[in-house]
Amino acid sequence: MNLEQLAELRTPEGAAALDAAARLAGGDPLTAAAALRSAGVPAGLAAAALTQAELRRRAAGKFGASAAGMFLTRAGLEQATRGVVARRRAERLRAAGVATLADLGCGLGADALAAARAGIRVYAVEADPVTAAMTAANVATAGLANLVTVKCGDATTVDVSGFDAVFCDPARRRAGTGRRIFDPNAYSPPWDFVTDLVRRLPRTVVKVAPGLDHALIPADTEAEWVSVDGDLVEAALWGGRLAEEPRRATVLPRTPAPHRGTPAPLGGTPAPHRGTTAEADAEPQPGNAVAHVLTGPGTDEAPVGPVRRYLYDPDPAVVRAHLVAELAAELGANLADPAIAYLYADVAAPTPYARCLEVTDVLPFSLKRLRSLLRERRVGRVEILKRGSALDPEQLRRDLRLSGDQPASLVLTRVAGAPTTLLCRPVP
Ligand SMILES: C[S@@+](CC[C@H](N)C(=O)[O-])C[C@H]1O[C@@H](n2cnc3c(N)ncnc32)[C@H](O)[C@@H]1O
Repeated sequence: MNLEQLAELRTPEGAAALDAAARLAGGDPLTAAAALRSAGVPAGLAAAALTQAELRRRAAGKFGASAAGMFLTRAGLEQATRGVVARRRAERLRAAGVATLADLGCGLGADALAAARAGIRVYAVEADPVTAAMTAANVATAGLANLVTVKCGDATTVDVSGFDAVFCDPARRRAGTGRRIFDPNAYSPPWDFVTDLVRRLPRTVVKVAPGLDHALIPADTEAEWVSVDGDLVEAALWGGRLAEEPRRATVLPRTPAPHRGTPAPLGGTPAPHRGTTAEADAEPQPGNAVAHVLTGPGTDEAPVGPVRRYLYDPDPAVVRAHLVAELAAELGANLADPAIAYLYADVAAPTPYARCLEVTDVLPFSLKRLRSLLRERRVGRVEILKRGSALDPEQLRRDLRLSGDQPASLVLTRVAGAPTTLLCRPVP
């Protein structure tokens, strides 16, 4: 996609081609192209419209219904923040008193749009001309042009002194190849630039890869890990006055649940307490998700003890934020191996931070013994969870030669250093 093709898509003919392409998206691409061509759409415009329609279809999982009117690139969509996460972040910024924000490297504008929807005035800078033009179009489509200014340029040269806060989501994929970058020094804008913002400015938020090494987190900065429906999706550094706690795990459902939980006052989220949980609701508007927030220093260690009746498999945001000890304290639980993040307790307590299973059998790992136990229990279907085991679950499933009619959960782990299998059943 180039600027001329984007401009053509924004004409009345382009809009008609996009509408027609949307009706054909998801089917056979050659048939769709032929249908557009036979309806009189020129080949170039038809191809551009079909590409957009396909990207919009894929983007619906990230942005919901608003994806249908957005202009997208493949690379931009892959790197864009999920709507539910961007909205949550924007609400927190707004609640912290942020009224103006510089978005340095705004991509397709998912974060800028969310901030504007939260009432924040945004100055969005993007180095890639086509991406910047698409963001400007997305802002206009959303009716937010009065709140968002999009500039094409180098974000590292922007004077950020006049803004309440700065947001940066550096590119973590190589331009051209789209390959993932794991070394923060290869991010764009570069890591040094980003961490300098965090250290120097009164309020900075930086989105980072969830695999970020804790050793790279600047001092006095809050590091937050976010999961959506149990999938770890991103981490963020909150610097300066925005830092509330050293470590935070935010657990979000993908599906907005505006009527669940007790709504917080408009424009604010209740602060979670260290080491405990808080149900932090965003503004009580349709489309907002209930977030569960666990915080703490991230340096505490959970007690180690025996396997008990219930096993808790903590959410990946809790594990990555190093908040397993805080969760253990809340559940009255312990680890069974100091290096493995499964928790065990005598009571099954409902928690948004972990999945709970009832342990029915504990056995040292032995394929023969496991096979005979599963046969005795008539287990024919197993889900296999593992932490601290090198076994290949699919190979194990084949080796078990299951034949019964009962389901079970198998946990491959270590207990006090010894390879152990736990036979479990889900707790409703
Ligand atoms: C990860 S994406 C941002 C995604 C965005 N937060 C969203 O959710 O839609 C990073 C963007 O930064 C842009 N970028 C990289 N280096 C830049 C620089 N020095 N100045 C401006 N933009 C830059 C890239 O082109 C890319 O579009």
